[in-house]
Amino acid sequence: MKVMVCGGAGYIGSHTVVELIASGHAVVVVDSHANSSPKALERVERITGEKVENACVDVRDAAALAGVFSRHDFDAVIHFAALKSVGESWQKPLTYFDNNISGTIVLMQEMARAGVGKFVFSSSATVYGAPDFSPIPESAALRTASPYGRTKLIAEELIEELSHVDPGFKAAVLRYFNPVGAHQSGLIGEDPSGTPNNLMPYICQVAVGRRPYLQIFGNDYPTRDGTGVRDYVHVVDLARAHVRAVEHLGKGGETFTVNLGTGCGHSVLEVVAAFERVSGRQVPLSYAPRRAGDVAEYFASPELARRLLGWKAEYDLDRMCEDAWRWQSMSPDGYV
Ligand code: NAD
Ligand code: WQD
Repeated sequence: MKVMVCGGAGYIGSHTVVELIASGHAVVVVDSHANSSPKALERVERITGEKVENACVDVRDAAALAGVFSRHDFDAVIHFAALKSVGESWQKPLTYFDNNISGTIVLMQEMARAGVGKFVFSSSATVYGAPDFSPIPESAALRTASPYGRTKLIAEELIEELSHVDPGFKAAVLRYFNPVGAHQSGLIGEDPSGTPNNLMPYICQVAVGRRPYLQIFGNDYPTRDGTGVRDYVHVVDLARAHVRAVEHLGKGGETFTVNLGTGCGHSVLEVVAAFERVSGRQVPLSYAPRRAGDVAEYFASPELARRLLGWKAEYDLDRMCEDAWRWQSMSPDGYV
């Protein structure tokens, strides 16, 4: 298939471009580089041995997008292009609404104009808010806990509505749990700008000496060791799920929504212990109060993804830490 990958220079996008190419698909990346370096795509080219066409375009720019559609005959679009910081979305809600919701609408409009009907969308477990129980099935109640979460929920609703109204529009809505890890080569990985919000990049930066210690947000949760429990999923497993999803649509599959997680929860202390074990580095830590908006525990039911796509996460927590650490130690300052 020929696939437009919007946000393809970002963390999950770059890994997905690698897996698409490895599966024999043709890729064109569309990325404004609002939160990524074009160097990520040079690294993708080193891994795959193939040239990757990259259009530096904002998905809200309809004319520029139309230009890309006019130069290629796409079978599908994968849409990663969004702002993703929950904390920042409280400071700049309108920026998030505009980038993530308007961006998705403009992109779907240009797809319709170009006659491209297959769409893979990056959603998030954040649409479950504080879930009532785990493992979480896709049928669980949806609620948002932040302006960022609202953008994902609204985009999901628009996509669902459009697939009801337009018989030519078929979408895969993928709800990621906690993506971590990096490509086995160590050439690409997560490179947050500023202070990392998420656990694994923070641990990596402590281990490599960029930050003195990890703060653990809360050790009084009703979990097995008092720290928060999440469903960490290797980014390469996640990338492969996108290949399955786009191929499923390519074979005439109907619109669907699935969770992408392992089905296992790990606490913050378990992640730190695994990281120390595989890296051989100490991760100094201190305990801090709970972070506003955090929930004690959640993990996915990944059953539907297995049944529908034949997808199951292969890599365990040790492998996630090992690959994250290889990336961080090979590129201590990210894509500089
Ligand atoms: P990322 O920031 O690394 O990648 C997003 C990419 O999109 C970046 O390259 C950025 O430059 C680009 N982009 C942003 N807005 C754009 C716009 N208007 N036009 C063109 N390009 C634009 O983030 P990621 O971690 O790879 O996340 C990818 C997607 O997955 C996002 O939609 C995110 O909301 C979603 N998601 C991420 C996580 C996570 O923890 N990483 C979890 C659940 C869902
Ligand atoms: C994991 C655990 C923290 C940092 C976020 C978004 C979610 C989705 C995935 C996009 C929690 C603890 C963290 C630190 C810590 N993103 N922690 N010290 O919050 O589960 O999910 O990313 O869609 O929407 O909310 O991930 O990695 O921030 O936190 O103790 O410095 O690590 O409290 O228990 P989270 P996270």
